[in-house]
Amino acid sequence: MAEQSREGAPVVVLGVCGGIAAYKAVELCRLLSDAGCYVAPVLTEAATRFIAPLTFSALAAEPAQLSLYGEQHPSPHTRLGQMADLVVIAPATQNFLARLASGQVDDLLTATVAATRAQLIVAPAMHTEMWEQASTQAAIALLKSRGVLVVDPEAGRLAGGDTGFGRLAEPAVIATAALSQLHLRNGGTRDLEGCSVLITAGGTREAIDPVRYLSNRSSGKQGYALADAAVARGATVTLITAARLALSPLTRAATTVIEVESAAEMAEAVYSAAPSADVVVMAAAIADYRPVAIATKKMTKDLGVPALQLEETEDVLAGVVARRRAGQVIVGFAAETHDVLNRGNAKLKRKGCDLLVVNDVAQPEVGFDHETNAVTILGSDGLTTTVDLSSKAIVAHSVFDRVTRLQSTSVRERTLSD
Ligand SMILES: Cc1cc2nc3c(=O)[nH]c(=O)nc-3n(C[C@H](O)[C@H](O)[C@H](O)COP(=O)(O)O)c2cc1C
Repeated sequence: MAEQSREGAPVVVLGVCGGIAAYKAVELCRLLSDAGCYVAPVLTEAATRFIAPLTFSALAAEPAQLSLYGEQHPSPHTRLGQMADLVVIAPATQNFLARLASGQVDDLLTATVAATRAQLIVAPAMHTEMWEQASTQAAIALLKSRGVLVVDPEAGRLAGGDTGFGRLAEPAVIATAALSQLHLRNGGTRDLEGCSVLITAGGTREAIDPVRYLSNRSSGKQGYALADAAVARGATVTLITAARLALSPLTRAATTVIEVESAAEMAEAVYSAAPSADVVVMAAAIADYRPVAIATKKMTKDLGVPALQLEETEDVLAGVVARRRAGQVIVGFAAETHDVLNRGNAKLKRKGCDLLVVNDVAQPEVGFDHETNAVTILGSDGLTTTVDLSSKAIVAHSVFDRVTRLQSTSVRERTLSD
């Protein structure tokens, strides 16, 4: 069992029904636990024929519960439902959907649902014929009309070698739906819903020869935190990255990742993706200089110390601003070591972006390879936001707070001028 207290963690009751996709609920359990949820698994009697309760007990915050009558609690039929912030049923069988729609309460899972005021999410999984049954579709329609969120099944391979519609949605997709609900419940908003956000991350590498390159200390962590924040707020994200970090599975599901290495590759990828983006956040540390020529063979010591001749790279932020389309919000980043605010303000004016996120990377724990950052967000609207040393996630949300503020101002201005 994962060492976790309920203190502050959202409680997710994970209901698992007896379908072939029950094994995928293990991955869902892990994703929700990794995302900081207190997961309480409940398996139907049929589910235990497909997967061992022990597997869930080992991953979740408390042991898997199976029965209305086994628990040492005075009120086992209401305990989990009352403590839940969210109930997720995955996979939901045809049988369970029918029981839920009819209001039956004949096992621990249906009792938990009956005793909760929490949002309910169901992710059905069954053979195409079962999904298409009028009774199943009627149950789904009824549950939706009662406010249940349905994560639709997908087309793909089914049990018994069949292919068709009815396969359980990917665990990452279900987890994203669950975390979005929790985000809303915590007062967070999906204020980037329908918004396409392009984010760049990492430090580019400029080749010297086949084994050496020039680069900088950027780790890409701030860019990846920006991707996490944008996805949590409902955006679809394109991440152009020179870093090789792992995205969280949840962000991965809503993100197109384009890997690049050099400033030239970064420029090409950004210029091709930017026209369709509503927001462009240029968090990557793109090299300012690159070697004029790249040696085709490894430079060897016997040739002496090479005299590297450098040339300027493309100014990608300026290029994006020059190509901007109406209503697009463009955010630049500046890592400085001295005269930080003056240099930041000058850069904001020179580049013509809407926001410039400036940090003083000479300070301890700030930016580059650290888990934390401290920034000043300068705006062409004259506003300045200071974010003291915090996690990169908090910095990322502060950036998007300013982005959405700019978006709503520009909508208001457009409406007034109509
Ligand atoms: C091998 C096998 C696979 C099954 N797969 C599914 C399935 O994917 N979806 C489904 O709705 N029912 C499936 N069933 C039928 C359910 O197990 C059965 O309806 C059971 O009563 C569901 O109980 P529950 O809803 O309480 O978990 C399957 C049955 C067997 C034997």
